[in-house]
Amino acid sequence: MKVAVVGATGLVGTKMLEVLEERNFPVTELIPVASEKSVGKKVRFKNRDWSVVSATDAIKAKPAIAIFSAGGGTSLEWAPKFAEAGITVIDNSSAWRMDPAKKLIVPELNADVLTKSDKIIANPNCSTIQMVVALNPLTKNTGSGELL
Ligand SMILES: NC(=O)c1ccc[n+]([C@@H]2O[C@H](COP(=O)([O-])OP(=O)(O)OC[C@H]3O[C@@H](n4cnc5c(N)ncnc54)[C@H](OP(=O)(O)O)[C@@H]3O)[C@@H](O)[C@H]2O)c1
Repeated sequence: MKVAVVGATGLVGTKMLEVLEERNFPVTELIPVASEKSVGKKVRFKNRDWSVVSATDAIKAKPAIAIFSAGGGTSLEWAPKFAEAGITVIDNSSAWRMDPAKKLIVPELNADVLTKSDKIIANPNCSTIQMVVALNPLTKNTGSGELL
């Protein structure tokens, strides 16, 4: 699978690359994206160096998925352009979280609501994700859909 990581030179992007590698996510080609000043820099992934490209070139490379972690402004500007090109965007910024037309997903809880037509998928803030994963079993235990 061709995977773009937008913000690949940043703190979060670097961690994403580590986790993709650790979990053996089936990446056949990595497309690291950062700002224009970083184009041509190398990032290390799966024992090789990959050249950082611009968002425009990343779209041309047609990845299946683009994981965004480059700030809300970058997501607002670029996620729709990736989506228009048929690329599924998973956005780690706050850009789309409150948009009623986008699904807010924590995979352990509600990945089942996704369909192939969801091209921009939002996820919550990191502390929220951890909290709702822990709280979810409690809502199931009550059977009422409400917390104990
Ligand atoms: N969901 C969560 O819980 C959570 C938690 C923390 C952060 N975040 C999100 O992650 C973002 C990044 O955080 P960070 O700490 O990793 O920041 P960071 O270290 O400053 O990294 C920002 C990254 O975005 C890239 N970037 C900036 N402008 C860009 C543009 N116009 N086009 C393409 N790439 C661009 C930067 O490239 P250069 O290296 O070239 O500047 C860098 O790779 C935050 O702004 C926030 O949206 C989410």
